[in-house]
Amino acid sequence: MIENFVNKIICGDAVEVLKTLPNESMDLVLTDPPYKISIEGNKIQRTYAHYNWKRRSDIGLDFGKWDRNWESNKEYFEWVALWFAECHRVMKIGAWIYVFFDKQKTGLFDLMLAPTLGFKSRCIYVWVKTNPVPSFRKVNWNSGTEHIWVGSKGNSKLKNFKDQKYMANYFLSPNASAYKETEHPTEKPKKLLQHLIEVNSNKDDIILDPFIGSGTTAVACKELGRNYIGIDLSPDYCAMAEKRLQNTIKPML
Ligand SMILES: C[S@@+](CC[C@H](N)C(=O)[O-])C[C@H]1O[C@@H](n2cnc3c(N)ncnc32)[C@H](O)[C@@H]1O
Repeated sequence: MIENFVNKIICGDAVEVLKTLPNESMDLVLTDPPYKISIEGNKIQRTYAHYNWKRRSDIGLDFGKWDRNWESNKEYFEWVALWFAECHRVMKIGAWIYVFFDKQKTGLFDLMLAPTLGFKSRCIYVWVKTNPVPSFRKVNWNSGTEHIWVGSKGNSKLKNFKDQKYMANYFLSPNASAYKETEHPTEKPKKLLQHLIEVNSNKDDIILDPFIGSGTTAVACKELGRNYIGIDLSPDYCAMAEKRLQNTIKPML
């Protein structure tokens, strides 16, 4: 019964919990899995920054063990294939899926996983960071974007196409330092998630995030009168998400 899962944060492994959800029950999947980009103990040391930058602290490049849990890319890709297939199974026909992903690995979806499962690839949606971290050593372009793979289960339209000026496949938002509400190392901008939720769902729809972290997707849903199901392996992050939700008011819509 889907009612047992709705508007809950479920603490557990995404693949195992997803297996317990009924077929074709989700109106939208919006998620931000581990990217496997962390290197243990890695950081940019602020003292090396020969640059007039206001930040006083180092920048961590190790998000935690949860982001470096695989021996190889092959092992990681096999794991992605497992939860991605489960997402496909639980999505309603016509539902859309948004997956934040390491930009160097997004080809996995278009070239391998989407065609195998029968997902239609729709686009790469880009979060443009208006205040990217400066490149202190000046050896490469500053990393000012994050990529979201977009697909649909079938050939459906976006539910709520807004005015054309809001419908380009990018969203401008500063990086975490400007909007962070929690201690989660990879909290995403709530306004970006809300824009995607508004365009892709209606009131009372059920939105799934199997890697909920600090709860941003759930909070965004609650504020917009949508239902959510959030999953995370970490009891600490589940508690963080629950606390945020308790402090979020559901509007009378
Ligand atoms: C990139 S973070 C999500 C951040 C979230 N978007 C936010 O705004 O706070 C990925 C999350 O996946 C969780 N995670 C890692 N492996 C998992 C697994 N096997 N099952 C469920 N959650 C997992 C981590 O604990 C982490 O909180």
